[in-house]
Amino acid sequence: MRYQGLLETYKNYLPVNSDTPMLTLHEGNTPLVRAENLSEELGLDLYFKYEGLNPTGSFKDRGMVMAVAKAMEEGSRTIMCASTGNTSAAAAAYAARGGLNCIVLIPNNNIALGKLAQAMIYGAKVIAIEGNFDRALEIVREITAKQPITLVNSVNPYRIEGQKTAAFEVSDQLGKAPDVLAIPVGNAGNISAYWKGFKEYHQSGKISSLPRMIGFEAEGSMAIVKGEPIPNPETIATAIRIGNPASWKTAVQAAEESGGQINYVTDEEILHAYRTIASREGIFAEPASAASVAGVMKLKREGYFKGGETVVCVLTGHGLKDPNVAIKSVDAEPLVVEDSAEAVMAAIAQLENK
Ligand code: F0G
Repeated sequence: MRYQGLLETYKNYLPVNSDTPMLTLHEGNTPLVRAENLSEELGLDLYFKYEGLNPTGSFKDRGMVMAVAKAMEEGSRTIMCASTGNTSAAAAAYAARGGLNCIVLIPNNNIALGKLAQAMIYGAKVIAIEGNFDRALEIVREITAKQPITLVNSVNPYRIEGQKTAAFEVSDQLGKAPDVLAIPVGNAGNISAYWKGFKEYHQSGKISSLPRMIGFEAEGSMAIVKGEPIPNPETIATAIRIGNPASWKTAVQAAEESGGQINYVTDEEILHAYRTIASREGIFAEPASAASVAGVMKLKREGYFKGGETVVCVLTGHGLKDPNVAIKSVDAEPLVVEDSAEAVMAAIAQLENK
């Protein structure tokens, strides 16, 4: 049967009723790709949940379709969010689809080019503040508390409801729950959503075990790991450049209840994993996404795994979102040569000797 999108597929698990518009851009239903080369290298049964293949290129579409459908059901005309980029792209797309106005607040100069392009072309009102994501979220909360505007950050519970469907898909695709679910942590909504999803699937008898939830923050933004907000968070992975995660408590709960942990990775580890999954597995994910893989590599070095565990890394966003980091991180420019076969052959030889 033709795939009908998340709201239809999982309506029995979601706050969907006869008044809820069945909004969809065919989000969800993303592939679980086995990491053939890295599985062997790490001695694990390693998979990528490739969320970059959602309609706007990130997992945010799962939560946004639910949040925007509920906003429409409630008669809202305008939605608003703060974003490091992906949430704003998803909000703008679903608002366009549903005929709502969309306002997004982003940290000036700190969102990836592709994400900015998306918010603009989908027709959102894009406002860049001279401040970081945490400040943008404070401002959005202040405004939406007073104005008839629906807040669609992940503090909106419908976002978490939509995002939990990824845990259902992972379970169905594997035929079981993984042993470990590794995931990047920014505002901490997604780890909370996955854990909720796994627990609900477990309760309904669809899976017989639960994964250990392991979240990875970027070192320069590791508020949860440090146990205190970071006033000036930094990381190359701008998607998770967040110093005061809104879903802090539920993320810690997910880690604790599941026997997992919240850990961190350095920018260097992120970039190494980012290049590795592209060059060894043929999968291009954005830097923040690579934090999950970097984290698994780090735990492997530290002797965390027995060997053979089924591990799923969530690749939260598509690599094309952030072309600048890709080009910078390979530290090379294309060779420009004259338009002849001889010149091209000489260039190939030169590249082979590098
Ligand atoms: N990976 C990507 C690609 C993201 O865009 C985000 C969050 C995360 C991971 C972290 O997920 O916040 O649920 O812990 N991006 C948000 C945004 C903050 O505005 O797009 P989280």
